[in-house]
Amino acid sequence: MADLLERGPVLLLGAEGQLGRELHRALLRSGIAPLCSTRSGEFRHAPSSSSPGLPACDLAVPGALTALLADIRPALVINAAAYTAVDRAESEPGLARRINAEAVAELGTAAKELGATVVHYSTDYVFAGDGTRPYREDDAPGPVSVYGRSKLAGERALAASGAEALTLRLAWVYAAHSANFLRTMLRFGAERDALRVVADQIGAPTPAHWIAAATLKAIDAGARGLYHLAPQGETSWHGYAEAIFIGAVARGLLPKAPTVEAIPSTAYPTPAARPAWSVLDSGALERDTGVRLPNWRVGLDEVLDQLAAAAP
Ligand SMILES: NC(=O)c1ccc[n+]([C@@H]2O[C@H](COP(=O)([O-])OP(=O)(O)OC[C@H]3O[C@@H](n4cnc5c(N)ncnc54)[C@H](OP(=O)(O)O)[C@@H]3O)[C@@H](O)[C@H]2O)c1
Repeated sequence: MADLLERGPVLLLGAEGQLGRELHRALLRSGIAPLCSTRSGEFRHAPSSSSPGLPACDLAVPGALTALLADIRPALVINAAAYTAVDRAESEPGLARRINAEAVAELGTAAKELGATVVHYSTDYVFAGDGTRPYREDDAPGPVSVYGRSKLAGERALAASGAEALTLRLAWVYAAHSANFLRTMLRFGAERDALRVVADQIGAPTPAHWIAAATLKAIDAGARGLYHLAPQGETSWHGYAEAIFIGAVARGLLPKAPTVEAIPSTAYPTPAARPAWSVLDSGALERDTGVRLPNWRVGLDEVLDQLAAAAP
């Protein structure tokens, strides 16, 4: 990354999001203080030692990102901002498309113009979910939701821009902070004796701090193009919930585990359809860069340990 840094600053978009916060931490640990952009211009989670915030940049506003890039002339832009409300996107398709596709096209065009490198994130939701083996990068996408279609349009727009870019497709992201399945389960587990969780959607839960560290390694290895990044192994949301409760009780985060009933997706209807099979094959990234994530259960232990260490 040293050669990139000689050419200009690192701009982190979405610095207050789940992944953005972990990227910010990982960059600071590597001795890099990125310029941090948020929608509101506030930067509430900035560590005291840290990077300056920037004026607000709302990706929903056409031209806002182009103006920001022209102003700071970054060498590297890491885009952790996205419209991630999967169900709400079904009733806000224009906004989802604007943020996940049109703003990404704008980012690609501006980066190409400035000679900046872009790191971007996409999703397993670009696939239909009818796969029978882990999805590879060259498997045909077929998104079944507005969110998935908007993210697919974004990855394609970035590739078409001609900017030097790395896009990592992720799945089932979580952290010790922010809104995610792990934190929802811990909250429900504290309030209820029994839960019902879908057992027919399969994927691999991925800690955001692993993604952040892997991103920096992939940049250092010079990775460009589209790659899948997911841990080893697979489970269902039901299996993930059970593992959360076992780990949480063992660490004293919950006094006891609720019973977790396995249900089919049909028993838990949501506005957006979700792929039944979300398992990503990360072999190409490992072959090209040496980056390989451990089994998802190792990541869960790490994040539960973080929560236990922070518990009063
Ligand atoms: N979470 C998952 O399970 C998952 C799975 C696969 C892929 N991904 C991808 O991973 C990336 C990171 O996701 P995440 O989990 O970190 O999501 P997140 O926690 O929802 O963070 C997204 C960030 O984008 C910002 N943002 C949204 N609309 C914006 C706008 N109009 N202008 C400026 N900023 C805006 C949000 O700011 P506000 O806080 O102001 O809204 C938030 O900080 C995304 O590309 C996502 O598609 C996530």
